[in-house]
Amino acid sequence: MRLHKRHDFPGKLLVVEGVDGSGKSTQLDLLRNWLVSKEQSVIFTEWNSSALISKTIKKAKQTNSLIPVTFSLLHATDFADRLENIIIPALKAGLIVLADRYCYTAFARDVARGVNKDWVRSLYGFSIRPDGAFYFQVPVEVSLSRIATSRRPGFYEAGMDIGLSSDPIESFQIFQSRIISEYDNMAEEFDFHVMPAEKTIHEQQMLFRQIATKILND
Ligand SMILES: Nc1ncnc2c1ncn2[C@@H]1O[C@H](COP(=O)(O)OP(=O)(O)OP(=O)(O)O)[C@@H](O)[C@H]1O
Ligand SMILES: [Mg+2]
Repeated sequence: MRLHKRHDFPGKLLVVEGVDGSGKSTQLDLLRNWLVSKEQSVIFTEWNSSALISKTIKKAKQTNSLIPVTFSLLHATDFADRLENIIIPALKAGLIVLADRYCYTAFARDVARGVNKDWVRSLYGFSIRPDGAFYFQVPVEVSLSRIATSRRPGFYEAGMDIGLSSDPIESFQIFQSRIISEYDNMAEEFDFHVMPAEKTIHEQQMLFRQIATKILND
């Protein structure tokens, strides 16, 4: 699996992972702005955004018509498209690639949906190993309270598709707790930098910059 080997492109790939509401996008935005202010060449890519497939995924989600395996396959297609057309070309060109979620999102979510762990990992066997994978670790109550201030959890976000509970909040808690435990189990296997995501935005950003700088200068 390419995920366990270092790539030899001149660029660097940094990815953020964690449950919904863990603060990934907040931290990655701040890091991006900081790197740009230092005149670094940065590009950004996020989960479920490929020109090829993201509209199909959004449509299928709107009609709640995905089952765990089709959910997994469609997201793998989105990822493969962005890897080949955005991430790898940028790394070849020596850019810093910042990815908001990476294949570990599938490893956590799809397995939490009951999909076989080895099957998901082999599905994403074409992935390349990031230079830094940052896991924003928070208890489920914190992520729920952060999300609740702006929106209700979505059908799939709450795991309503796998019938955990008819109550969206209860379902969210059960499903996201499963995802957190998958992430926790992966931390060592994939050398995650575990970020204390309950801390203030500023404290985490200082730590994020410090670790990122070390990786980028390596
Ligand atoms: N350290 C923090 N302390 C308090 N609130 C925070 C912190 N970090 C982020 N938030 C707030 O929590 C909410 C969710 O943050 P953000 O969108 O960055 O999470 P996310 O991990 O990207 O979620 P998603 O996976 O749903 O995209 C936002 O309103 C953000 O302002
Ligand atoms: Mg986000």
